[in-house]
Amino acid sequence: ENMLSAKAPGKLILSGEHSVVYGAPAIAVAVNHYVTATFSPSDTDTLIITSSVLGQSRRTLVQLEHLVAHLDQRFERFLLGELAVQDVLQTPHDLLYYTALQSDSLPSGTVTIHSDIPTGAGMGSSAAVIAALLQLFQSSSCAQQRDDKKPEFFQKVKYCERLQHGRGSAIDAAAVTYGGVLKVQADKVTPLPLELGDGWYHFHTGTPCCSTGETVAAVRAKFSHRTDLWQQFAKITQAFEANIKQPSRLGSAMRANHQLLQEIGVVPAPVSALIAQIESMGGAAKICGAGAHQGETAGQVLVYFPEQNSETLSAQLGVCLTPLQQQLNGAH
Ligand code: MEV
Repeated sequence: ENMLSAKAPGKLILSGEHSVVYGAPAIAVAVNHYVTATFSPSDTDTLIITSSVLGQSRRTLVQLEHLVAHLDQRFERFLLGELAVQDVLQTPHDLLYYTALQSDSLPSGTVTIHSDIPTGAGMGSSAAVIAALLQLFQSSSCAQQRDDKKPEFFQKVKYCERLQHGRGSAIDAAAVTYGGVLKVQADKVTPLPLELGDGWYHFHTGTPCCSTGETVAAVRAKFSHRTDLWQQFAKITQAFEANIKQPSRLGSAMRANHQLLQEIGVVPAPVSALIAQIESMGGAAKICGAGAHQGETAGQVLVYFPEQNSETLSAQLGVCLTPLQQQLNGAH
């Protein structure tokens, strides 16, 4: 049958989370976990969106007539439509889905969203949902985007993300648009032609109690004026980029990054203790993504420890390390 589908990858931040919000560079890598959106048409005049992305399954029935009345073809006008339609779509995520559906002739049928990106884990699942939906409704096939369309697509994902999280950086939007290893600074995205070698791992400490938006807001309230701190972060990310092929110096850039992340209060104590343990063994580690300004868990932790294999490390630390190399998503 006439089924269409589109997918978008998750990402991990290697260096520069938080500081990227204040104009410092960050380096991220797209991973081979995906959000997939599948559309199956029907001849009713409704669009049903079902999603298991938020852990609990959710189903939104959109009356097309109502929806189309508020749509404006020009992307910038979506906000207006969004406000008017709040009574139809009751949750922020449904609102997001609606916002992503930027066609004034929405098809009728069912959209099903699946994800194998761990949610709430700092892996960018919400940007991937937006990107998968945008692709689905933009193209009549699941063909990959043409290169010359990417800047526009990037802007759209970024716009939808801002609606959801308030102000934030463009890093997730860049990862879902371009894939591969990327440097992002403000709106500038530079693909880094890098192969990440051995020794990179990540592990999940549990879903943080606060959302990315809440943690970013908590940091902003206390540290937005601390340009000195953001400059230190920027230097570390530059050192990270310069040394990514000289592993001997990467560890110190990561340890310095971890120090600063602790200073801005996004590394919960139990996670700090694990990272200290890794450092005492001779490796380097840092949170990866927003972390958390409260509670005990922080989502993902990135580990760089070329001298150790994942089984040994996992056993010693009592966590489950995943080698990053097996999870890379090539540029797309
Ligand atoms: C979250 O994945 C990364 C942060 O830097 C927020 C952002 O960039 O928008 C914490």
